[in-house]
Amino acid sequence: MNILENISLKNYNTFGIDVKAKRFVSIHSVEELQLLLSKEKDIFLLSGGSNMLLTNDIEKLVVHIDIKGITVENEDDNCIEVTVNAGENWHEFVLWTVNKNYGGLENLSLIPGKVGTCPMQNIGAYGVEVKDTITKVSVVEIETGKITSFSNETCKFDYRNSIFKNEVKNQFIIISVSFKLTKKHHIFHTSYGAIETELRSKKISNPTLKDISDAVIAIRKSKLPDPKELGNSGSFFKNPLISIEHFEKLLSNYPTIPSYTISETEVKIPAGWLIEQSGFKGKRFGNCGVHEKQALVLVNYGNATGLEILDLAKNIQETILEKFEIELEIEVNIIA
Ligand code: EPU
Repeated sequence: MNILENISLKNYNTFGIDVKAKRFVSIHSVEELQLLLSKEKDIFLLSGGSNMLLTNDIEKLVVHIDIKGITVENEDDNCIEVTVNAGENWHEFVLWTVNKNYGGLENLSLIPGKVGTCPMQNIGAYGVEVKDTITKVSVVEIETGKITSFSNETCKFDYRNSIFKNEVKNQFIIISVSFKLTKKHHIFHTSYGAIETELRSKKISNPTLKDISDAVIAIRKSKLPDPKELGNSGSFFKNPLISIEHFEKLLSNYPTIPSYTISETEVKIPAGWLIEQSGFKGKRFGNCGVHEKQALVLVNYGNATGLEILDLAKNIQETILEKFEIELEIEVNIIA
């Protein structure tokens, strides 16, 4: 185990924020992690760094989880269960499933980050959430170093949320995630408008898992910036829920407001639309800005600090509150 000192974290977070870790260690096995935890408990966990905004140098020991490997647990004619170690790259794992014709994750192609963090905010895109395939999340308890696991139910998955962001926050380190995938009779989720349009443009009427994955990759590439080219953390805010009454009031002023019905009393509004309507889309503020093709994504033009991006986020929140009486909740983890 090699503890490094004064390491820049610029290449370890997709926003590309240049803060320093006083001490930094990469962990390649569960045993190594348990050994580390027997000596150090005041740690800062870093996985793919794709859902965080770093605003300061990190004083705690930064632990980069880099445990690799995929194991088949169970298999029958219809389904397969695989356990994937936390340090595997998410998109590479999705491509592995698509190439083997294992169904369930194809709509989640090209999401940045590592497998170990996918349960944290229950990543989702194009009509699918990762909770739909997760069977188990294995963890090491920071206090005791003991290995334990959470079933799908005990993870308390919700929209961009789970138990790991709430009740048990900072108590466990995710070491692997198990998924149940289909080998035949795949359930295709193609009803999301943009996927249908993309498949139609390629004249595909009976898509394969690869066709769907390719369509999702094309859609994401057309509106979401590649973090390697333009620092970002995907959607910066959650899509807010508002009451039907509030929605009807807005509808009279904004007849084209897009919405998704959630229940008899609540409606979800795309935050990207609210931000675009407020005039922020494509605008640059110093070193950061709002992406020109998807207003829900804040971008770092190269040298932005976390605090600059946070200021822009607050400006957006205040404007939306004033204009629409809607409180936008930040989705990305802000690291103070
Ligand atoms: N819209 C605008 N202007 C914009 C962006 C969006 O008007 O600049 C409106 C459009 O009406 C559009 C609607 O918002 O039809 C929805 O947009 P989009 O399909 O791009 O999805 P989203 O609601 O903005 C969510 C997820 C994304 C995910 C997509 C596709 C959240 C917070 N974000 O975005 O997830 O890829 O749906 O399923 O739920 C992420 O979490 O990092 C992420 C990228």
